Amino acid sequence: MQAATRSTLSAVRASARRQNALSSRAGAQAIRSISAWSSVPEGPPAILGITEAFKADKNPNKVNVGVGAYRDDHGKPYVLPSVRAAEKKIFEQGVDKEYAGITGVPAFTKAAALLAYGNDSAPVKENRVSITQSISGTGALRIGGDFLARFYPGDKTIYIPTPSWANHKAVFTDSGLNVKQYRYYDKTKIALDKNGMLEDIKAAPNGSIILLHACAHNPTGIDPTQEQWKEISQVVKEKGHFAFFDMAYQGFASGDTNGDAFALRHFVSEGHNVALCQSFAKNMGLYGERVGAFSLVCGSPEEKKAVDSQLKILIRPMYSNPPINGARIASQILNDPELNSQWLGEVKGMADRIIVMRESLKSELERLGSQKDWSHITSQIGMFTYTGLTPEQVDRLAKEFSVYGTRDGRMSVAGMTSGNVGYLAEAIHKVTA
Ligand SMILES: Cc1ncc(COP(=O)(O)O)c(C=O)c1O
Repeated sequence: MQAATRSTLSAVRASARRQNALSSRAGAQAIRSISAWSSVPEGPPAILGITEAFKADKNPNKVNVGVGAYRDDHGKPYVLPSVRAAEKKIFEQGVDKEYAGITGVPAFTKAAALLAYGNDSAPVKENRVSITQSISGTGALRIGGDFLARFYPGDKTIYIPTPSWANHKAVFTDSGLNVKQYRYYDKTKIALDKNGMLEDIKAAPNGSIILLHACAHNPTGIDPTQEQWKEISQVVKEKGHFAFFDMAYQGFASGDTNGDAFALRHFVSEGHNVALCQSFAKNMGLYGERVGAFSLVCGSPEEKKAVDSQLKILIRPMYSNPPINGARIASQILNDPELNSQWLGEVKGMADRIIVMRESLKSELERLGSQKDWSHITSQIGMFTYTGLTPEQVDRLAKEFSVYGTRDGRMSVAGMTSGNVGYLAEAIHKVTA
């Protein structure tokens, strides 16, 4: 080949390489500019925004009453000694890490059913409670929502209270249920709107699904009395509605696991074949372990068998089988008599600390000369107090006093300590005076 031809050829090759490089860069840019996610709209910030604002605040007196987890009297996360003891026992047993079955650890689900429905429960004794382990309370709600969307024979509309836990609507909507609401809270009286609640439940088409917070209603902390529960049960029965219980706080509300199960057990004793979601996040402090259960009271052992099989079919494509560690801890605590009584004492300890904090906040407000009626702080129950503060007052609390809560006026009593309750009362008094 002649030198001139060779140099022309290599010039042509170099130009082709440049072209290739350019077009592949342009191609990459073109691919990037038509990214699959370019039209995804940014959603609103989640509740955790409060925690971020709290963390960024430099005020040494800052208080976080937005947190939905128990804190000890030093404001620190609390691992129950019974949980530590259970962990030690499990470690010493040298257990393996094999998969659980689709419905979880049987010793756990069996004990969870007894804890909720009671040792004398007729449906448990008659082997007609279908139960599965779940990814804590949220996962139980999702399994329940999905199961009802698939199999509930009536109108697939679930009625939730106004207000309700912020996640209920999203969980049930994503499950494929229609979500409607019933009145629950009387804003002017800061109390249960029992008449409104019963009117709305009566007005719902026969056979509707009614979501009930079994105890420690979140966010209001306002529960029906036992007499009111009896009335609610009667109306739900007359209308042929289906009662769907969310029990995220058994024991945490009053300190007594049996007392907190009153509503559920009353409904069951009245013949309602209920659905139930349980969480062990609060009452065992197993938040991040994600331990819960979903159960359905069935009409017969045969019906239970069919429901069991469908629950497995529903869960398998979701996550195959649940995590074992938390369920083993809960199982150890529920099934070991000594650990169980230790745990019951610790649950009561947490509930009592919250009750003491409620009393302190109320008496501090009174001592400061607040003319408002704060009796709801002590009459409410569970982790939260619905203070009745307006969104603007909550904003002022954050801006002027570094006190962080949700704008609906809900405050976590678990975030209060003997060290900060006086400061908190002063701040509340100043924005409400
Ligand atoms: C009423 C209610 N249901 C369910 C849950 C679910 O909690 P988890 O998924 O942590 O068990 C909560 C948590 O705050 C709750 O308040």
